[in-house]
Amino acid sequence: MKSKNKLPKLSPILSDWMPKLMKDKMLLDTLFGDWGSPLNVHYLPEFDKNIQKFRKVFENHRIPYQLFYAHKANKSKSVVNRAKENRIGVDTASERELLQALEVGVSPELLVITAAIKTEKLLQMAVENNVLVILDNQDECDLLNSIAQKTDKQTPVGFRVSGFYTDTGKLYSRFGFDIDEVESFIVTTCSPKGKYSHLTYKGLHFHLNGYSTEERGAALSQCFFLAEKLKTQGFTSQFIDIGGGVLINYLKSKNEWEIFREELKKAVKGEREEITFNNDGLGYQLIDNQIQGALATYPFFNEENDDIFLEKILNFRYKNKASVSELLRNKNIEIRLEPGRSLLNQVGITLARVAFRKKDMKGRWLVGLEMSMSQLKSSSADFLLDPLTAFVPAPNHPVEVYFTGAYCLEQDIVLKRRITLPNLPQIGDIVGFVNTAGYMIHFFETQAHLFHLSVNLSIATSKESYQYQDFNNF
Ligand SMILES: Cc1ncc(COP(=O)(O)O)c(C=O)c1O
Repeated sequence: MKSKNKLPKLSPILSDWMPKLMKDKMLLDTLFGDWGSPLNVHYLPEFDKNIQKFRKVFENHRIPYQLFYAHKANKSKSVVNRAKENRIGVDTASERELLQALEVGVSPELLVITAAIKTEKLLQMAVENNVLVILDNQDECDLLNSIAQKTDKQTPVGFRVSGFYTDTGKLYSRFGFDIDEVESFIVTTCSPKGKYSHLTYKGLHFHLNGYSTEERGAALSQCFFLAEKLKTQGFTSQFIDIGGGVLINYLKSKNEWEIFREELKKAVKGEREEITFNNDGLGYQLIDNQIQGALATYPFFNEENDDIFLEKILNFRYKNKASVSELLRNKNIEIRLEPGRSLLNQVGITLARVAFRKKDMKGRWLVGLEMSMSQLKSSSADFLLDPLTAFVPAPNHPVEVYFTGAYCLEQDIVLKRRITLPNLPQIGDIVGFVNTAGYMIHFFETQAHLFHLSVNLSIATSKESYQYQDFNNF
């Protein structure tokens, strides 16, 4: 028998600026009047705080370091500018990202190109501006060397490494050179008389899928041992870049997270009413009356995130020997971290206007938003978090709703979770998704039906309120 229990809550962590903005009706009216829906609003002092947290960890460990903001995580120019003001580097993944960072005035020594596909034009820009290129394969080496040769310039390069050894075997990645082969490749090709005489070896790089600190610790240790071997052959590593992928925590309560997962399983089993659109299991499946599979979402609640995550990598002991931190101390190798998502934690929210309310055939309230599913999409099966609302609740009129989007697809359900709102919103009311503008919206957003990409704005604090600061799309 299906019971109708209350919907579980997933309360997001909120920085002070977020609820304040949601209460500032005048500012919201101005922003929507000027720019339409949806809007990404950023508050950049949070970015500065995130930088400080990572800095502190490296400094406590007395390890030379540099942070590189992974630009791909957010399209806005003002975040790149903020990286420059904080004197950190910028990791670029395309011609336009590199161009934007150069235009903003980031110094070429603080730039790196890690693009998965490196066009001839991008590599030409790298050679002209003396920007470090992280090489992934031999074809890239051929192309970059030939471009550098034409202008007789030496180009700084690093090598992306993969195939690291872990307790569960060798780690697969489609990226990079295998750790077992890269040493002889560098030594034979990058010497003055080698095939790539115009490439100057500077260091090693990796970026791992997933969120394991143990795998990152093992990869960093193996890169360190590789750097030691390369040194004996005349190749000094100035840096080891450990990529990004630092976990962040979105939720206030572990209890809510656990209850949500239990209630979702109950719903999939048919023991309670649905809590997701059409009872989507978000990875859980009912097979032979048993729940199978795993929740296919980001681990929205987790305890080893941000600075603790980095701390765990540095304290990791590969094969139970010296810790990463002990290995690296006094070694004169700069450790580079390339965070995207984690530098943008608490930096942005996405706001959308309510276009309509209606009941569907099954009697469920659908609230149409002026945005599309692509704007909250990621590799996670749903964004899940409770949204913020910018309207005064009428007491005792709670209502359960689904938010639907602007695409012609039945599947355009902006949040798959069923949400309890204090009351049914009015047309024109504003709903806010916490922590998505910093990161999420910039990845899978599409322009189907000729909709514009969402606008990116920054706000700044004045004496009593927040003020719109700049429009910083690209
Ligand atoms: C090479 C590289 N560096 C850094 C990042 C940033 O990762 P994150 O945003 O998870 O920190 C990525 C993301 O895909 C990447 O591919």
